[in-house]
Amino acid sequence: MFKVVLIKGDGIGPEIADAVVEIFDAAKVPVTWIEKDAGLSVIDKYPTGIPDDTLDAIQKYKVALKGPTTTPVGKGHKSVNVTLRTSLELYANVRPAKSLPGVHTRFDNVDLIIVRENIEDTYSGIEHIQTPQVAQGLKLITRPGSIRIAKYAFEMAKLYGRKKVTAVHKANIHKMTDGLFLECFYEVAKDYPEIKSSDLIVDNTCMQLVTSPERFDVLVLPNLYGDIVSDLSAGLVGGLGVAPGGNIGDNSAIFEAVHGSAPDIAGKGIANPTALLLSSFQLLQHIGLHETKQRIENALIETLKDGIKTADLGGKANTAEFTQAIIERLEPPAADEMKEPRPLHIKSELLPVFKEKHEDCHGVDVFIESPSGIPEPPKKVDHLELTMISNRGTKVYPGAPPNIWLVDHHRCRYVAKDENGNYLRISDEEIFHLLRELYVHKFEWVHIEKLRMFDGELGYTKAQGE
Ligand code: NAI
Repeated sequence: MFKVVLIKGDGIGPEIADAVVEIFDAAKVPVTWIEKDAGLSVIDKYPTGIPDDTLDAIQKYKVALKGPTTTPVGKGHKSVNVTLRTSLELYANVRPAKSLPGVHTRFDNVDLIIVRENIEDTYSGIEHIQTPQVAQGLKLITRPGSIRIAKYAFEMAKLYGRKKVTAVHKANIHKMTDGLFLECFYEVAKDYPEIKSSDLIVDNTCMQLVTSPERFDVLVLPNLYGDIVSDLSAGLVGGLGVAPGGNIGDNSAIFEAVHGSAPDIAGKGIANPTALLLSSFQLLQHIGLHETKQRIENALIETLKDGIKTADLGGKANTAEFTQAIIERLEPPAADEMKEPRPLHIKSELLPVFKEKHEDCHGVDVFIESPSGIPEPPKKVDHLELTMISNRGTKVYPGAPPNIWLVDHHRCRYVAKDENGNYLRISDEEIFHLLRELYVHKFEWVHIEKLRMFDGELGYTKAQGE
């Protein structure tokens, strides 16, 4: 027997969770449910909405099925999901989008899986107010994080018999960050020669998804693009009522529908359990019960083909009738169905992947607040020479500044080179001296970035016009 934590959640959560439990019972799935609380019922005692023993149970049993939880509006209430994701390091958000019979959409042949990196990117939440006119958010893409998500996508593709994995990115613009994501993707792809690997720019991906989604198989994306593209894909196959998901880490995994607790229909017995049932299919695949998953999926498909649907999909069945219809269409398990589970094991010995420490520094970008126009800081301090000033990424010095809007935030690049044009290594002392000179001359610096070498070049993206 597999032990699986069950969190029924709030609103329609208990109604749809009970439906899934009933279907699993009828299908004789070898699962014992360990029921735990989270959400509104415990919010008074646990501001995160998650009691310690719920978290302990997920860590102990490693797999959970979760109904939606309500996030109370107001200060101090974190979302249960965000807390679970970060405290359990659930780094992969996996969202299949598959056309279902009887769910009318523009396409009837979509069958793709979105694998979204779930922790990094702009979601690290590292943001700062720089000047009265400028706010900054850091997009952090890491080598270990990118390797790990690519590896997950390929391992999953291999186990599920998928043919192609596509990395989605914007490396033509985000050369360093998305460039690193892409580099890691192709590094990992080398270990999976039997699976086709390709990459596509995110805007083009969106266009192709809404014109010919059948072209796609598995897509792997950094966090922000993954967030958007996974909702787009859910829309392609019928939206919230049929959108499942899983948050997966090295040590534990939580499967849940994409939709929320639907307070407007809670308690009426009309909620659609399909999305949570589809999430439970992901769970079954995760623990290796692929044939069991297929058998229940067949019963779901037959139910929908027979026109039995809940109201949100244009049908007349209530939750209980829909559940019963699936149960009636279940085939009995084959004798050897559950003999050899084939779970998805990700080998995490790859982590952490640290390359050698960066010791070189050949320059520095100093960001200066200047409300009165382009600043004129010292042109040379020790070895450091002012080579460029940009405003919102457009070069405004040297040369005639282009006719653009200026904000009060200027990037002043200081680089150290010898007379032959070779980069010179600079010390922190030299940077401190530069900052002191700026201070003495009344330039308001707001932050600095050291310039490192990257592939034989300084590791920064150039300003437009440079
Ligand atoms: P929602 O997804 O709960 O509801 C949006 C609309 O879709 C409603 O009209 C609802 O009746 C309908 N709907 C959703 N699921 C359905 C189902 N299975 N069957 C039939 N109709 C369904 O989104 P909403 O109203 O914005 O959020 C309600 C609460 O859920 C909020 O507190 C929110 O924070 C929380 N939430 C929780 C999530 C989770 O725990 N994973 C995810 C999203 C929202």
